[in-house]
Amino acid sequence: MFTPDEAGAAPTGIVIDVIRATSTICQALASGYERAFCTAGVEEARALRDTLGEGVLGGERKAVRIPGFDLGNSPREYLAPTAKTLVLSTTNGTRAVVAAAERCDRVLVASLLNLSAVVEAARHVDEDVLVVCAGVQGTLALDDAFVAGRIVELLGWERTDTAEAATRLVTTWGGAEEAFRASKSGRNLMENAPELEADIPFCARESVLDVVPRLVAMRDGAAEIAL
Ligand code: MLT
Repeated sequence: MFTPDEAGAAPTGIVIDVIRATSTICQALASGYERAFCTAGVEEARALRDTLGEGVLGGERKAVRIPGFDLGNSPREYLAPTAKTLVLSTTNGTRAVVAAAERCDRVLVASLLNLSAVVEAARHVDEDVLVVCAGVQGTLALDDAFVAGRIVELLGWERTDTAEAATRLVTTWGGAEEAFRASKSGRNLMENAPELEADIPFCARESVLDVVPRLVAMRDGAAEIAL
């Protein structure tokens, strides 16, 4: 699915918002956060952190840190944990995780950082998988489509025409960083937060984290993600 609202169903969903929410979740859990809650809304995130009584509030609107939040949505802010729990709200990515949690029995979180690990996990599930791109405001985003194409390519399974299109798209770029810079997500980041441009090459590194974040529970409408 190039966007979370497209028709499609499978027991296992793999969610991608490579610039930057799913890269941030992968990095945070690899760095030692024990769990990350994905919330759609900002107030929901604040309320959940209050209920939990601990945790770091992270996220963005228009690519920059939400007022009053502890951290933004740059994966480079999550290289060392400052709490056990991350409560994250982003424009498209955390919504896509919650949407996938509502339609799939199992949800895995993918980025380029954990590409090999997530593909191996999908292979072991041994059933159809639905690759869900977060996109941007309900439209296709080339960065997520690129990563979807890499997943489909590495799985090497029978695929839908949408999945085939994603694999063909991969070969049109000189590499991930080029695709990410050209994408709407990459351009939004560079326009709204040029000081965070280094997030693009950071997120374009392939298979550097051996983690497979997955949905473990739903709590107050938020998707709880852990290893
Ligand atoms: C999103 O959820 O839309 C993205 O992660 C935006 C961003 O780059 O922070």
